[in-house]
Amino acid sequence: MKQILLLSLALATFLTLSTDASSFSTDTDQGAVAAVPLIVNPHYKRNTPAHIQKLNKRYPDIKIQAGGGDNGIVSSGITGRVAIANVNSDLEYYGTVKVGTPAQLLRLNFDTGSSDIWFPSTACSTPACKSKHHTRFNPSSSSTYKKDGRPWKVEYGDGSVVSGQLASEIINVGGVQVRQTVGLATNVSSQFKNSPEDGIFGLGFSALMSVKGINTFMDNAIKGTLKQPLVSVFLPSSRRNGGQGGHVLFGGIDHSRFNDKLHYVPVTQKGYWQVKLDAFKVPVPSSSNSTGNDARKPIEISLQNQDAIIDTGTTLIVLSTTAAKKIHSSIPGSTLHPELGWLVPCTLRNRRHPSSSSSSSSSSINNKEAIAFKLNGKCFHVPLADLAFEAVEGLGEKGEWCLSGVQGGQEGLWILGDVFIKNHYAVFEYSPENPRVGLSPLKN
Ligand SMILES: *[C@@H]1O[C@H](CO)[C@@H](O)[C@H](O)[C@H]1NC(C)=O
Ligand SMILES: *[C@@H]1O[C@H](CO)[C@@H](O)[C@H](O)[C@H]1NC(C)=O
Repeated sequence: MKQILLLSLALATFLTLSTDASSFSTDTDQGAVAAVPLIVNPHYKRNTPAHIQKLNKRYPDIKIQAGGGDNGIVSSGITGRVAIANVNSDLEYYGTVKVGTPAQLLRLNFDTGSSDIWFPSTACSTPACKSKHHTRFNPSSSSTYKKDGRPWKVEYGDGSVVSGQLASEIINVGGVQVRQTVGLATNVSSQFKNSPEDGIFGLGFSALMSVKGINTFMDNAIKGTLKQPLVSVFLPSSRRNGGQGGHVLFGGIDHSRFNDKLHYVPVTQKGYWQVKLDAFKVPVPSSSNSTGNDARKPIEISLQNQDAIIDTGTTLIVLSTTAAKKIHSSIPGSTLHPELGWLVPCTLRNRRHPSSSSSSSSSSINNKEAIAFKLNGKCFHVPLADLAFEAVEGLGEKGEWCLSGVQGGQEGLWILGDVFIKNHYAVFEYSPENPRVGLSPLKN
């Protein structure tokens, strides 16, 4: 069986940073970064290159046939909205899901980069399960629980493991209710101990399921009562809106969140939400040329045969080494730290992004203050302010250096993670013939 490695948590825990200034050690197991107040896991430290090597393992060459196509599109039906909590200034996001009868409430990370749904069971007694941060699902107090009994296991990109048995339960997200095969974890490794989520809610395609032949939640919901075969994601951003008001909307689109039309990008391979990336754009630094406005036009770097995945479960944007270097070479003061990866001056946070006006076309954005990714012919921008992802402690002056929101080392599929998604309303449309992602810049 193919090992499916989940980057989602890998990156999230990678960013579980230590406050200890002495953590800038060259020892692989000691190297760690800056402060995250909510998740504190001193036993979980890593350096960036080693981490990124592991990331690569999460994305094996997935050869997946398009099609399958047994999903009837239901035109009348219901939608379900789940509020999204923002953890540690955009590090990760989760929402509350009802499981079983009567409902038990679990906090799950909605992850478009994986497909399994899992949460810990009361039968799990490993320390990560018993952690005060976590709710365990009690099968014996649910009248709708059905035993499946097949063993189940997911190994993550960082070496962490969850395992247990499959089970069948009623899963309810904001009123959309489905009988679903889920992973009931009885062994959760220590890396999960301090994560604020109980488990994961995969929104990828069934090809990524750790046990083959199991329908995803969306497969089942689309056959059932869901109004439209799609999930819409509005990730809240601390910088833009204080991290408030986010949602995942099953079966519907909240048009009040964006001005432009959605621009659709076809999925190239059904597994991850994988799309073709035409090009990326970098701003030419204003200091590098003083010959006038024209010379300060952004540079577009075209790409051949480059796919990327739109992954809500990954915190940052992760590109090839070369592309990350290209982007940072346009940002004065950025530097590649041997362990931490790309760092940028935290003063980038103060850069105003002129596009924030409610201009009707995102193509009118002043590109000098943003990088952009071109998908199906249209550029989607990420303000430079979002590249100053998090202050690194113990390096230079306090608040001088920030971990960049763009990192390298991902030579295969590139990852457009939350740093990208939180600037756009994103609609993941599961139509069997023509799966696609709709994107539109968020209103401020
Ligand atoms: C949990 O799994 C690990 C291997 O991943 C194993 O070493 C350990 O014994 C298991 N613990 C329990 C309680 O089953
Ligand atoms: C600076 O401007 C000159 C003249 O317009 C141009 O030839 C050159 O390529 C520019 N340099 C950069 C880095 O854009």
